[in-house]
Amino acid sequence: MIAPSILSADFAHLADELKAIEGADWVHVDVMDNHFVPNLTLGLPVVQSLLKVTDIPMDCHLMIANPERWAPGYAEAGAYNVTFHAEATDNPIAVARDIRAAGAKAGLSVKPNTPIEPYLEILREFDTLLVMSVEPGFGGQSFIASVLDKAKQVRRLVDVGELRLVVEIDGGINMDTIEQAAEAGVDCFVAGSAVYGTPDPAATVEALRQKAIAIEAASA
Ligand code: DX5
Ligand code: ZN
Repeated sequence: MIAPSILSADFAHLADELKAIEGADWVHVDVMDNHFVPNLTLGLPVVQSLLKVTDIPMDCHLMIANPERWAPGYAEAGAYNVTFHAEATDNPIAVARDIRAAGAKAGLSVKPNTPIEPYLEILREFDTLLVMSVEPGFGGQSFIASVLDKAKQVRRLVDVGELRLVVEIDGGINMDTIEQAAEAGVDCFVAGSAVYGTPDPAATVEALRQKAIAIEAASA
């Protein structure tokens, strides 16, 4: 699956920018609060408006403090998947349960330097694991390949039937780096600048998808 991130889109024309990625599997929406990360983007009112103008399942990536307070609102609004950060809460299970109770899939995200071992046990409460391959906060950064060990480890648990979840990667994904991520067993690839930085974003989405499919077929 390919999930273009609208962080790299033109914020003055978001409805058009959603039309430009027709065929994407998910649309990735980065919510930042200038507290958990040193940047500010958009929040629930914008997400509510975006949901009215697209049928693409929305993947909300909450880079915010206090997800227990805010995450369920995105699920209630109609987001398909709501991901929050492991580093932002002491009670990830409760947040995941609240998101699911409000009707969305629940995702857990880990920053590049956050180990996955302490969270393996609770991943059964989640539908998505979002492995950050850049420091959260900004688009256009370089891919950190060392995080792929986390993706591999979790994908192995999925393959043996111990977990059921989508392994998603976010940050620095482009036509080159998607190869290593696909080899590591990633299911869903977020790409911001690599999609919106091209003249035909929908064609780029398809090209990324074909590349990932080819790698997966070769390593199967
Ligand atoms: C970064 C965001 C990403 C960002 C990725 O904090 O979570 O979703 O949009 O942008 P690229 O693909 O340009 O690295
Ligand atoms: Zn993101």
